[in-house]
Amino acid sequence: MSRITRRDALAGTASLALAWPSAGLAQVGRPAIPFGSAAQIEPFRADPRYREALKTYCNVIVPMNDLKWEALRHDRSRFDFSGADELVAFARGNKQALRGHALLWGMALPPWAKEMSTKAEAERELISHIETVVDRYKGVIPTWDVVNEVIAHDPTLEEPYRDTIWQRLLGPEHIEIAFRTAAQIDPEARLVINDYDFEDTDPRIVRRRAAALSIIRDLRDKGIPVHGLGMQAHLYGERAIDTPGLQHFMQDLGTLGVDVEITELDVIDWKLPAVARERDSTAANLVSTFLNAVVPARQPKAIVTWGLSDRYSWIGETFARKDSAKARPLPLDEDYRPKPMMKVLDRYRLGTS
Ligand code: G3I
Repeated sequence: MSRITRRDALAGTASLALAWPSAGLAQVGRPAIPFGSAAQIEPFRADPRYREALKTYCNVIVPMNDLKWEALRHDRSRFDFSGADELVAFARGNKQALRGHALLWGMALPPWAKEMSTKAEAERELISHIETVVDRYKGVIPTWDVVNEVIAHDPTLEEPYRDTIWQRLLGPEHIEIAFRTAAQIDPEARLVINDYDFEDTDPRIVRRRAAALSIIRDLRDKGIPVHGLGMQAHLYGERAIDTPGLQHFMQDLGTLGVDVEITELDVIDWKLPAVARERDSTAANLVSTFLNAVVPARQPKAIVTWGLSDRYSWIGETFARKDSAKARPLPLDEDYRPKPMMKVLDRYRLGTS
């Protein structure tokens, strides 16, 4: 059982003198960072402007839902790769890189998977699922969110793990089983632990950062190939970015030899003013503060937003505004026009000085 060590909880003594990555920049200010978006199959099929925006702005594509168990395994006896294959073909056709999301999650499971009842059954299903999916996309999907959201929403020293069917049936070992299986099938793949709520100053968020470090350290100590931490970065508009906390976090990930990628960036703007211009500016400033905290400290392998246009986002439904104004969480507005947030992202995706 991995525990959040006191060392992790007290982490923060690391130096803040974080040099900007030298990376042979010569006279250019910033190296370009691969940028992309999650792609949702429904608008992908229905809206030509959605596909066009993915082509225009992205060099990374992540199937939003079509590599989840819910999409791949509606019945236990066979895999349905139709949606995933369509998005993979699109990305390959446009010479865009792919991220796979997600080999193990406690949500978005088909009904039969929720009925699993023994350790042996869960281990058998988990291993065969990962073997099949990783093998199919070996050499095509080079980076996987091997596990998604395995950290407790509010972790404690006693219980850092999220209560999922995998944790209940397999215990903490579910994480290493997933990583070991993925690595056996594709030793070249970059394997990532992906999670949310690392970005602000709330004590719960500080505990989550400590839990992530403790879990990753435990895995690395066992020789489990964890290459990266995926920070989902669903940023709350009304909360302050914890710049020093994030810089220490990046430093600590560096000490563990673990990369970072930003995997689901958007802004939860339900508590921000209704006026679009004001809301967009606040959201852009929040993203800028977040990236200014992370990128100089540990250059992300990619920056991925959870969608591109406000026309399609999970935020509006999940975080409904009292004034019923529409959510504006993403870099393009409903008509695919760039907002101030895209200008901020341009600084990173285009590698400008
Ligand atoms: O495709 C079916 C469609 O055929 C059906 O008519 C419709 C109504 O039942 O459902 C459609 O599937 C939905 C799917 O989104 C595609 O739109 C699922 O019910 C719905 O549960 C699913 O929600 C997704 C959610 O993850 C759960 O998988 C969201 O789009 C997606 O944005 C969200 O993304 C998650 C990340 O994977 C992990 N981090 C948090 C993030 C936001 O919750």
